[in-house]
Amino acid sequence: MLPTDKSRLLPLLPTHPAGRAAVTCRYRCGDACSHEAPNTSDNPYFGDVVGQVLDRRKVLKAGAVVAVAGAGLGVVGSGTAAAAPAPAAPRTHPLGLDFEPVAPNDLDAVVVPTGYEQDVLIRWGDPILPGAPEFDFANQTAAAQSAQFGFNNDYCALVRVPGTRDRWLMVNNHEYTSESFMFLGWDADDPTREQFEIGLAAHGLSVVALDQDRRGRLAVRLDRHYNRRITMNTPFDVRGPAAGSDLLTTSADPDGVVVLGTMNNCSGGLTPWGTILSGEENVNQYFGNADAVTDPVARARLARYGFPAGTTERKWERFERRFDLARDANEANRFGWIVEIDPLEPGSNPVKHTALGRFKHEGANVIVARDGRVVAYMGDDERFEYLYKFVSDGKFKKGDGRFAREHNKKLLDTGTLYVARFTGDSPPEEIDGSGTLPADGEFDGSGEWIPLARNDRSFVDGMTAEEVYVFAREAGDAVGATKMDRPEDVEPSLKSGRMYAALTNNTQRGQAGREGATEVNPRVANKHGHVLELEERRGDNTGTRFSWRLMLVCGDPNSPDTYFAGYDKSQVSPISCPDNLAFDSAGNLWISTDGNALGHNDGLFAVPVAGRERGHVKQFLTVPAGAETCGPIIDDDHVLVSVQHPGEVDGASADNPLSHWPDGGDSQPRPSVVAVYRTR
Ligand code: FEO
Ligand code: CA
Ligand code: CA
Repeated sequence: MLPTDKSRLLPLLPTHPAGRAAVTCRYRCGDACSHEAPNTSDNPYFGDVVGQVLDRRKVLKAGAVVAVAGAGLGVVGSGTAAAAPAPAAPRTHPLGLDFEPVAPNDLDAVVVPTGYEQDVLIRWGDPILPGAPEFDFANQTAAAQSAQFGFNNDYCALVRVPGTRDRWLMVNNHEYTSESFMFLGWDADDPTREQFEIGLAAHGLSVVALDQDRRGRLAVRLDRHYNRRITMNTPFDVRGPAAGSDLLTTSADPDGVVVLGTMNNCSGGLTPWGTILSGEENVNQYFGNADAVTDPVARARLARYGFPAGTTERKWERFERRFDLARDANEANRFGWIVEIDPLEPGSNPVKHTALGRFKHEGANVIVARDGRVVAYMGDDERFEYLYKFVSDGKFKKGDGRFAREHNKKLLDTGTLYVARFTGDSPPEEIDGSGTLPADGEFDGSGEWIPLARNDRSFVDGMTAEEVYVFAREAGDAVGATKMDRPEDVEPSLKSGRMYAALTNNTQRGQAGREGATEVNPRVANKHGHVLELEERRGDNTGTRFSWRLMLVCGDPNSPDTYFAGYDKSQVSPISCPDNLAFDSAGNLWISTDGNALGHNDGLFAVPVAGRERGHVKQFLTVPAGAETCGPIIDDDHVLVSVQHPGEVDGASADNPLSHWPDGGDSQPRPSVVAVYRTR
């Protein structure tokens, strides 16, 4: 439904490649799309995806995570204010997807189907710690921000407070700051110390208690015990095989075991033991003066991870030496990890897991294999980068007791790190880069997981185990891993055990000097991305062989280069740039998008992955212009989405806001979490 006072059209300005505004690229990833992708290795491309998964929600005892059961959010919709171009008489709906799709639009609003209502749960700057001041846009302070909800919320997870039925802990990543949208009169050449410190405090994560009323509606609670802000000043314990390595020591931490802060936390995952994993992604953009590093090996490694020469956009290197690579080059190696937060233990130090390798982590999703070992699937979100998995040495213990939890929280310390190599099954000449299906009717094939290191043992010639973990990209280059089109979320189905990966886009594929189309990344100049389905051989997540196929090749359904698992394309919603993935209780896949290259607002989509409706993509909601849809949680009585960077379009700023979502009037746009509920 459309809030009529917020439904003004925005003047959309030219965008960056694949649809994302240049200003978003500047702040989020340090203009990665304007730079050469840093994988210049001649690692050959082998052409192309993967599990018996225990249902995480079943593995957990009731109360450890949001338990879902039943029919999902399904309801018979009767049309919407923004009716879709989709069919007037859709086929029988699978369980949970009986809504009328929302049409593509450019509105300054969150749009949901008829029969649903929305509520802004929390906004950037809302107080979350007791005593925090109310948000005051014109008079921000670092002290206030340290006790308020951070900026640009991305990943979102819910953990039930033990012993309660109606109380939750919501954990959110705050991926990055957009200073020109945060401060009036922002001067990029001369930021102030207070602005720098606000930036530190606006990053990280928030833990926020929620109360659920009898109608199922959620509301923020200022909980003295559980509410927490994790920022760029929070100490993290470094664990796993590279903890204490010479590669991680700095003047402030000569033992290489404690790092201050986490940054650019993008997506994440809820573990079977009720903790949160969060991916440190585009960390390179926060460190200045990589060109001042003289050691050629260290320089090459900084380049492989895209660390820039000279000054950075935010100029943090002016204020603290840890951001100046000329002074502490190893500080760069202390970011780019999967971090783990235990929201149920607010006094505990979060952890940086070196056993999961260092790269531009989108997130990590852990499943329990048949034999009890746990497996984390991960993507490195940059063009031509790799997909990884980690298999633990130890086995998962069931139960929510302290003994089991403490045991499980150590599972990610020891194990084997793998990288993926894909092979297509069609003749290479049939993969012409246009997206035309090969003669066998599918982009599909087989693949293998190549071991890189296990604890102190390296499987990569010329690299020590510590080097493999800290410079995992180099290890992937050396063993011939498959270069992918920006691997974002990698998520197991709770019903089928198959794994799904969002490959968001790669407009450089096929450019001069760059790898061309392969069966697993079959389009050159890939603007719209695709969704990969993987099945481990014999359903064994700990194994090394798998089969794969592309389930969706995204874009305009009217375009011949798109594919929706063979479903009638006249019946589906257009979808572009798949990013975060989630499953509902009925096993339907939900996909949020980032950077819709079809020219409309980003959205949240649902698609069955099995049965006659497999491939029937339907748009459930759209977010305001300039925003990205993130962190979806799909539960039976609510959908939560992060609305990140609303109004972040080129030419806009705090001095010239083009969005006034969510508060309307002349207000500044504020990244927020929105809850959606059924009304009938
Ligand atoms: Fe922060 Fe991979 O998107
Ligand atoms: Ca094929
Ligand atoms: Ca993402």
